[in-house]
Amino acid sequence: MMPEPEPESASIRLERDEVHVWTAALDDAHWDVTALGHTLSSDERRRSEALRCSRQRRRFVVGRGLLRRLLARYTGVGPRDLAFAYGGAGKPELAGTVGWSDLRFNVSHSQGVALYGLMRGRRIGVDVEVRRHLADLGEVARSCCSEREVAMLEGLPPAWRQVAFYWAWTRKEAVLKALGTGLSIAPDRVEVTLLPHEPAAVLAVDGDRSAAAGWSLFDVALGRTWTATVAVDANGARPDLSCRAISTLERHVRQDGTVIS
Ligand SMILES: CC(C)(COP(=O)(O)OP(=O)(O)OC[C@H]1O[C@@H](n2cnc3c(N)ncnc32)[C@H](O)[C@@H]1OP(=O)(O)O)[C@@H](O)C(=O)NCCC(=O)NCCS
Repeated sequence: MMPEPEPESASIRLERDEVHVWTAALDDAHWDVTALGHTLSSDERRRSEALRCSRQRRRFVVGRGLLRRLLARYTGVGPRDLAFAYGGAGKPELAGTVGWSDLRFNVSHSQGVALYGLMRGRRIGVDVEVRRHLADLGEVARSCCSEREVAMLEGLPPAWRQVAFYWAWTRKEAVLKALGTGLSIAPDRVEVTLLPHEPAAVLAVDGDRSAAAGWSLFDVALGRTWTATVAVDANGARPDLSCRAISTLERHVRQDGTVIS
């Protein structure tokens, strides 16, 4: 198959064996919320207006606005002109043929931090969670982990149990988001590694170990407060992952959303 040509006006190049991850601090005071809001579609604006809490509203506008600016850099299509289509369980994707028609992305946010993952031609899912101490960890784990995973957690010293649970949780959710089902599928059906010395990996999907081999999981280091995972259905390959903060991208974007090349 011939490689798809890069769109003329795109200013970030994404190779087929690469995953680009961007992070953003949504509560930063320097975001121009009005300008970002102007890039949203009418349904996105309605969604933001329905949010009663002003902080949640601002986070949604900044998060979506930054997503649009980011995708504009990869596709060469203006942030306002991008359209999203939604899967049965709500996963947003680029609608129609814009720039690279095989550009895939996924988004996660937790307590003001947003994580964006992009790849070409492969399903991608991301999850970021702020790490809170779970007093009822055993109960939570039993509700979303397999028996094997619960036994692994119980074998760890208490302090590690908390950390390992978040690794397990974000790994499962990233896979379910890559599949597009989200939590409409029970998370215990995706079995993952969770011990401190084990690299991030999927062990089984619905009890099928061979289905797990196609997945590549990446932990993303975001400091002690957050746990984050990127999952890619990469057919057994290990793509190159790079992670950058979106504030570096913003230096190249004018207030009205147009790109300075
Ligand atoms: C997807 C899901 C796991 C996200 O949970 P979360 O931890 O609260 O949220 P995250 O911050 O990690 O991700 C949210 C983002 O994921 C994306 N997303 C939404 N649904 C998704 C799905 N099914 N698969 C992948 N990504 C999805 C969106 O970009 C969303 O961002 P937005 O709220 O700004 O639009 C959860 O919403 C879910 O399970 N949804 C499916 C619900 C369902 O069962 N629907 C049945 C049809 S009604």
